[in-house]
Amino acid sequence: MAGIFFLSNPNGIEGTLTPLPELSLACRNDILHSKRKMPMATASQSLETLREAAADCRACPLWKNATQTVFGEGPPHAPLMLVGEQPGDKEDIAGKPFVGPAGLMLDRALDEAGIDRKKAYITNAVKHFKFLARGKFRLHQKPTTPEIKACRPWYERELAAIKPDLVVAMGATAAQSVFGKITPINKNRGRLIDLDDGTKALVTVHPSYLLRLPDEDAKAREYERFVDDLKIAAALLRKSTRAA
Ligand code: URA
Repeated sequence: MAGIFFLSNPNGIEGTLTPLPELSLACRNDILHSKRKMPMATASQSLETLREAAADCRACPLWKNATQTVFGEGPPHAPLMLVGEQPGDKEDIAGKPFVGPAGLMLDRALDEAGIDRKKAYITNAVKHFKFLARGKFRLHQKPTTPEIKACRPWYERELAAIKPDLVVAMGATAAQSVFGKITPINKNRGRLIDLDDGTKALVTVHPSYLLRLPDEDAKAREYERFVDDLKIAAALLRKSTRAA
C-alpha cells in the first residue's frame, strides 16, 4: 500500500503562475456576479461547467505531475460545504475528494456528528495532488501560498454556485483559502464566523492530522474535538431550511 507522508516544502514553487482558463461570459456573469440564487438546473449546470473548465486548469504548475484535477462533488444546493487541503494519492487516482484514509476518518466523524456526507458538497482548496516521487511512493507535500491563491478562484466559483449555509474549513490550507488569508486553527476553531458575504464558516483540524498523531490518547482526544466541531455544524444545519 502506498504510504502517505507529510513533508514541509521549504522551496516554494517552481515555474510561473498562469491565469485560470476563461469561462464563457454568460457563465462568469451567472456564477461570479449573481447575488440571487440560481434556479436548480442552472446551479448544477454551473458546477458541471466549472468541473469541465477546471479539468484543463494550468493556473499553477501542480497539474504537470498530477493524474487529474480533483474537483468538488456533492449536491448543487448542499447546505454544507466541506473544504480540505488537496487530493491525496488515492483521490488523485480516483478523481474524487476524500476517498482515501483521511476520507474514511472524515466519514466516521461526520456520521458520529449526525451529518450525512451525501448531503454535503466536499472539495479541496487546491485541486491537484502535490507530491514528491520517491520510488514507488508519492510523498504528500503541503501546497504553498501561491498555489493556494492560484486555485482559490475555483473555490470561489464553487461557493458562488452552491451558496451553502455553512463552509467548514478543515486544516490550515483550507482556512487560508476560505478566509483569503492565513488563519490559525486553534485560535479560530469551534465557533461560527461570518464570511464577508454573510455565509457562516467553521474552522477545524484536517482529518489527516488525526491520522498522524502518534499517541493513541491524543488521537482519541483530538478525534472527539473534531467530532465536537462537526456537531456545531450539525446544529446549524438542523436550523437550515435548505434541502440538499
Ligand atoms: N486530504 C484532503 O485534504 N483532501 C482530500 O481529498 C484527501 C485528503
